[in-house]
Amino acid sequence: MKIVLLGPPGGGKGTQAAELSRRRGIPAISTGDMFRDHVERGTELGRRVRGFIERGELVPDALVLDMVWDRLAAKDCETGFILDGFPRTVEQAEALDQYLADRGQSLLAVINLEVPAEEIVRRISNRRVCPVCGRSYHMIAMPPAEDERCDVEGAALIHREDDRPEVILRRLEEYHARTEPVVHYYRRAGILRPVCGVASAEQVAAAVLREIEGAAARAVTG
Ligand code: AP5
Ligand code: MG
Repeated sequence: MKIVLLGPPGGGKGTQAAELSRRRGIPAISTGDMFRDHVERGTELGRRVRGFIERGELVPDALVLDMVWDRLAAKDCETGFILDGFPRTVEQAEALDQYLADRGQSLLAVINLEVPAEEIVRRISNRRVCPVCGRSYHMIAMPPAEDERCDVEGAALIHREDDRPEVILRRLEEYHARTEPVVHYYRRAGILRPVCGVASAEQVAAAVLREIEGAAARAVTG
């Protein structure tokens, strides 16, 4: 089961990818989390991508693709995966299609989480993340059990570096200019499944699962 989760910045991709991963036992792969990990560890790739992320710009495709192919080649991806934050340009989408076609594989479905701009800004400004496990919290809608501490790690929650207002605006511009065309790309391919992302995380997860089950049933019956 190979799934892509599309959606605007702060649209709930990470939240839904984690839930789907838990329910389906396949890995959730977030290119944003992978880059942040490289930046944190001070790797060569981390040094090259840091400025793009801090400015809210997309990292050049050439720096994204090899990292993704390496990850998809890992054993835990054999039965499937959920991609969160990749592909984000039409070039990345074409490269993913080619990568899968070379292996006789294809995507089961592309879920597009639809969330309006005002809700995105609300969510990102209320977001705190765990510096240890990366889990996201919404301080009003999905707060941690203990004030400002991760439920799993107990670590003090922090703001993500790129969640500053001016950077959020740049991320939204990049999304409209370069990632919305990916939505149209998958719509033309006939595998796009829109899901309204404005509901509780549980309700959105149920809708995502319905779409995936619909796509799986369609794949079986042809
Ligand atoms: P990335 O980490 O992918 O960031 P993003 O796309 O901007 O998305 P976010 O992680 O901010 O939001 P999300 O959709 O995961 O939402 P979340 O579940 O956290 O990318 C960061 C940067 O890396 C990019 O700007 C770029 O520079 C680079 N990059 C990454 N991939 C790249 C690629 N392929 N190519 C080039 N560059 C790349 O939810 C948000 C908040 O809302 C949280 O507080 C959460 O608790 C809350 N929430 C979630 N669901 C709900 C709900 N239903 N109701 C209420 N609150 C909710
Ligand atoms: Mg995310």
